[in-house]
Amino acid sequence: MRRAMMAGGAGLALGIAGLAGAWLAGLLPGAEDPDRFRSPTGEVPATPQRAGDPEAGYHALVNEPYVSCGIPWEAWARLAPEPDPRDLLPGREGRNAELPYFMTAHVNADGVEVVSNNCLVCHAARVGDELVIGLGDAFADFTVDPLGLVTQSGRFVRGAAPSAAWQHWADRVEGIAPHIRTGTVGMNPATNLSWALMAHRDPASMAWSDTPLLEPPPTEPVPLRTPPWWWMGKKNAMFYTTIGRGDHSRYMLFASLLCADSVEELGEIDAYAADIRAYLASLQPPAFPGAVDAALAAEGREVFEAKCADCHGTYGATPSYPNRVIPLERIGTDPLYAASMTDGSLDRFYEWVERSPHGGTVRAAPAAGYIAPPLDGIWAVAPYLHNGSVPSLKALLDSRARPRFWRHSAGREYDAEAMGWRHEVLDAGKEAAADAAERARIYDTTLPGYGNGGHLYGDELTDRQRRALLEYLKTL
Ligand code: HEC
Ligand code: HEC
Repeated sequence: MRRAMMAGGAGLALGIAGLAGAWLAGLLPGAEDPDRFRSPTGEVPATPQRAGDPEAGYHALVNEPYVSCGIPWEAWARLAPEPDPRDLLPGREGRNAELPYFMTAHVNADGVEVVSNNCLVCHAARVGDELVIGLGDAFADFTVDPLGLVTQSGRFVRGAAPSAAWQHWADRVEGIAPHIRTGTVGMNPATNLSWALMAHRDPASMAWSDTPLLEPPPTEPVPLRTPPWWWMGKKNAMFYTTIGRGDHSRYMLFASLLCADSVEELGEIDAYAADIRAYLASLQPPAFPGAVDAALAAEGREVFEAKCADCHGTYGATPSYPNRVIPLERIGTDPLYAASMTDGSLDRFYEWVERSPHGGTVRAAPAAGYIAPPLDGIWAVAPYLHNGSVPSLKALLDSRARPRFWRHSAGREYDAEAMGWRHEVLDAGKEAAADAAERARIYDTTLPGYGNGGHLYGDELTDRQRRALLEYLKTL
């Protein structure tokens, strides 16, 4: 329909002919209508979720091979340093007990032990000495070429079966590599990663094709900060644009598409997916590590309930959360992500989801706006907004204090005064950087998708109100 409107008379005629064809095929209403790939802004309705066991979910998350292809163990052992003891997790079995939290080992069908990244490579991070499961890693570096590891590890692979296992994994990484390199450290390419995998798989059989079956996604991912998992206990849909509708457990396990080569394998993963979702929904945010001025926080609570609670809900003994998506024009934060999701350019991937084995229970339908997230544990979620463009809560509450160019200081130290990871404000953007590594560290808000405008709700407050509000946010 969009196409018909753009092309004027002839297009309109073709559009009508197309509609008639769809009607004859018994597909109307619905099946040919791109509106099924859109959600309205406003309140997101709840969808019932399959029940699961959080404890079994944790066990599955850190032991099960939902990413079933990877680097043969011998090659990994030659490349990897001894793991930092702080990176070892409880409840891991066999080889996993000696691997860092973000890697999982398993023995494949040919008897080769392979090692691969699990969900925690993006969804766990350290605060001080403590590893917080579910916290997005604001320092994860996806600016490097993933093919480097492929080539490096290939040198240490010996024997027919390990070589075949390595090749299997290498082919997949090669297929997606052009689409998952971000421009800035801390930005996460997960969305493009999913589209790239869908482009290479037949949705009905899940079979991999080295040449893409759909036109691949854009090469550079839109900049995104990784949200924390503990918001999922409150959210009715997944992701910033609420694209993830229906059964959340199935949608989140699309992360296994790198290696799941058959409908049967997808089914094996689905057997524990509901437990993983239940674990995520049971997570609680970490407590603010510093002191809190209770009187000032109480003052801040009043400001919050008057100015913020309409969109972000209320906290404390009787919490509420409205699940509201605010349209782009109104929220005013960087529009690129939500606009690119809803302009029709990615509809072929939403159709892939519909045609996949989970199509009956999962739906990709973004809204042209961003959800006002729950603010539980917000102190730890820096940098702020969906694109991580604002380094601290202090700057989020006063748009005049938001830096145009900045970078995180080395060593991920928390700044309890500004409420964010310690950072430096710079005079110039990426173009002034001395080399590629330096360029990758600079957050440049003048680039497309990196804008730090909008969400001006703190600007109208007095300094005292902003200070009180910051204190209150420490308690959520
Ligand atoms: C490559 C990094 C990466 C990996 C690996 C990854 N994720 Fe994510 N995840 C993200 C990013 C980035 C987002 C935010 C995307 C968005 O909102 O549009 C996200 C969002 C989510 C959300 C929605 C959170 C919310 O508030 O809406 C859930 C749930 C989730 N991931 C679960 C998982 C699970 C389970 C796995 C493993 C099976 C996984 N992720 C693997 C990067 C990753
Ligand atoms: C009209 C609805 C609305 C009001 C009012 C509002 N917010 Fe928001 N808020 C949003 C939306 C939508 C986002 C997500 C924007 C984005 O990610 O681009 C957001 C994001 C945030 C974030 C960052 C979350 C993250 O993921 O990094 C914080 C913190 C926040 N708001 C605090 C507040 C405070 C404090 C107030 C009151 C002074 C307030 N908001 C008022 C809608 C609102």
